[in-house]
Amino acid sequence: MGVPGHVRDVDISPSDLQGVWGFSSNASRRACNSHTDPTLFISASIADTVSVIAGRDFFSFNHEIKMNPFDLPTATIEDLVRQHGTPIYIVSREQIAENYRRLDRALPAVTLFYAVKANPHEGILRTLSGIGAGFDVASKGEIDAALATGADARKDLIFADTVKDPRHIEHATGVGLDDFTFDNRSEITQIARHAPGANVHVRIRVSNEGSVAHLSEKFGARPDDAVPLLLAARDAGLNPSGVSFHVGSQCLVVDRYLEALDTVHAIFGEARAKGMDLEFVDIGGGFPVRYQDEDFDIEVMGRIISDRYRELFDDHVKLVAEPGRAVVGDAVALVTKVISESERDGRDWLYFDDGVFGSFLEVVLYQQIYPFRTNTNGPVRSYVLAGPTCDCIDVFSRDGQGRVDPVSLPEMHLDDLLIVGAMGAYTYAESTRFNGFAPPAFVYID
Ligand SMILES: Cc1ncc(COP(=O)(O)O)c(C=O)c1O
Repeated sequence: MGVPGHVRDVDISPSDLQGVWGFSSNASRRACNSHTDPTLFISASIADTVSVIAGRDFFSFNHEIKMNPFDLPTATIEDLVRQHGTPIYIVSREQIAENYRRLDRALPAVTLFYAVKANPHEGILRTLSGIGAGFDVASKGEIDAALATGADARKDLIFADTVKDPRHIEHATGVGLDDFTFDNRSEITQIARHAPGANVHVRIRVSNEGSVAHLSEKFGARPDDAVPLLLAARDAGLNPSGVSFHVGSQCLVVDRYLEALDTVHAIFGEARAKGMDLEFVDIGGGFPVRYQDEDFDIEVMGRIISDRYRELFDDHVKLVAEPGRAVVGDAVALVTKVISESERDGRDWLYFDDGVFGSFLEVVLYQQIYPFRTNTNGPVRSYVLAGPTCDCIDVFSRDGQGRVDPVSLPEMHLDDLLIVGAMGAYTYAESTRFNGFAPPAFVYID
């Protein structure tokens, strides 16, 4: 039996899109604006503060991002759907490369290792490998996916997950990867057993306040345990080289990086006093994506972080980062179709061919609110949006507390399309096969 909604991943040559993607000049942007596209609509749950932007030109949203597939004209999206079905991810390689390069420019002293966990799709990894990115991997599967792009295990890969399956450490060693993060003594034992003599750095727990995902709840040693752990690693025959942290995913507060760097600096001093000269700082990921109207500037964040690094550390201290979300988030738009509709307890429900067990898990996990558009143009109505599976949790219109909450959209019925922006990070990567539904197919447009 065929899996509903499943289509082959495809690659579209730029010439296929000629004339519809012409955002490189103001003239063509103006031409696109005259299209009868409905506007960007946002979740009713944030409508109190931002209000539903009915009638607004959607090109003014994310205006600095020229290749965001969310901005494609509706006619082009409908065309892609005619060719490839739904649900699909529309992916811009150019946007991925631009996001990576922007981070690289903003953090000139930092070597970037893309966090494969954010989106491991082959085309994305190949794009990044092609422009010189390294990879932060967490498992055998991610190691193999990164190596398949031609990456060099020793030079281009770091194993930054602190909880490692020993079989995967063994695999890493076998292919030549020799850089591991740890945050407890049992990990020292595991690494020493399966990767004797490897380079290791200790991950510390830092404040994640203001970030969407609070990783420090689960990961990171207490800062006052860092030096004892590094000494224990040395005693176990490993090569302790530095300290890492993660300020939490979708971090909007640059001070979190600065506080963490201050803490690392203190640990470096403590280690020196114990005869250990550390030379490696991993500032993790956390760089944000614009889902709605979040106020940040990656270049400014990078400059502030770089200034603090220069104040605190000598040139011999190497900096690395493991960005995921900021590299792929806004390079992907999802298109999903209405496959059923009903009225329940006075509310209109729309059911789509993608949902929480596909692309929308972060709505439930972190109350993520994605930007929506439709290919319809009717009066604005209020809808509960749900996925196709048998589970009642499969509802992706939710408020900031995770409660089911309707959104305002132009009137939609069977076969109409919902276009969702900023769907690159932790969507496909976290999708399941629950109820036999396959994740959306990838359509690369440049
Ligand atoms: C160890 C590690 N590195 C990097 C990342 C990527 O973080 P982000 O996507 O917020 O940049 C994560 C995210 O969970 C992580 O756990």
